[in-house]
Amino acid sequence: MQTIHDAAALRAAIRAWRVQGQSIGFVPTMGNLHAGHLALVQLARARAERVVASIFVNPTQFGPDEDFARYPRTLERDQAGLASAGCDLLFAPTVEVMYPFGPANTARVAVPEVTATLEGAHRTGHFDGVATVVVKLFNLVQPDLAVFGQKDWQQMLVVRRLVRDLALPLEIIAAPTVREADGLALSSRNQYLDADQRARAAEIHATLLAMRTAHLGGQPRTQVETEALTRLRATGFDPDYAVIRRGVDLAVPADTEHGGLIALIAARLGTTRLIDNLPFDGG
Ligand code: PAJ
Repeated sequence: MQTIHDAAALRAAIRAWRVQGQSIGFVPTMGNLHAGHLALVQLARARAERVVASIFVNPTQFGPDEDFARYPRTLERDQAGLASAGCDLLFAPTVEVMYPFGPANTARVAVPEVTATLEGAHRTGHFDGVATVVVKLFNLVQPDLAVFGQKDWQQMLVVRRLVRDLALPLEIIAAPTVREADGLALSSRNQYLDADQRARAAEIHATLLAMRTAHLGGQPRTQVETEALTRLRATGFDPDYAVIRRGVDLAVPADTEHGGLIALIAARLGTTRLIDNLPFDGG
């Protein structure tokens, strides 16, 4: 696997594959890779002849009080993991390569509506930063397909909408969430947790499962959501939301609506903010 840091070398490598008629699958990441990320690479590997991954801790998607500076950067270990998962090329650009005019002065992409709720409401500007960097990465790599995790369900919806609305010529593939044995979704941010918090963190997935069981059992949505918040607080979480929404657009479902629903949670344990979700019919 080769690692490339600048745009010209990336374009040359991609062009060489293109002239041979090879298809390209792409997995964008912020690094500190775990088995969830590597599962995306394996999916891309199965669907395309060449696989490109990127590692870039994107400054424009972090709020001023968020963890941009302390976000774990583990390039050497990530390179080994990517190589073993079948990645052909790692693109690891600098901030200057991604933002030639600086992060504050970049041309921006904003996706309305689907970004107005949940993560978009709690992290102002976050999805503009994600949409902007994803479009830049797609333009640099020019992949036929890109794989995103269902772990970040709303992000996946934002990217799908972006691709359709801007007529970007690639397919977006969603990959299921990879979890620890106790149900905790793998996340780079899990390593911020101390041992006691780590033991409690599995309660997010347990609460999502309980939300699904209660709602499928006929309990009204608002009651399910209230009980989920109570349960999370009892375990020491400070929840931002615990809700049932429509999976396709995150709209609040009508009481008569039962197909295609999803439960989503964002909650803080100490200073660590964790998110997870559970599509009721498998995603
Ligand atoms: P990052 O958090 O590194 O995640 C990269 C990809 O891995 C995303 O598509 C995410 O949904 C997926 N992922 C994370 N944890 C996962 C898990 N446990 N199981 C399956 N997939 C998982 O998401 C980002 O980076 C950034 O916002 C990015 C899209 C790269 C733009 O900067």
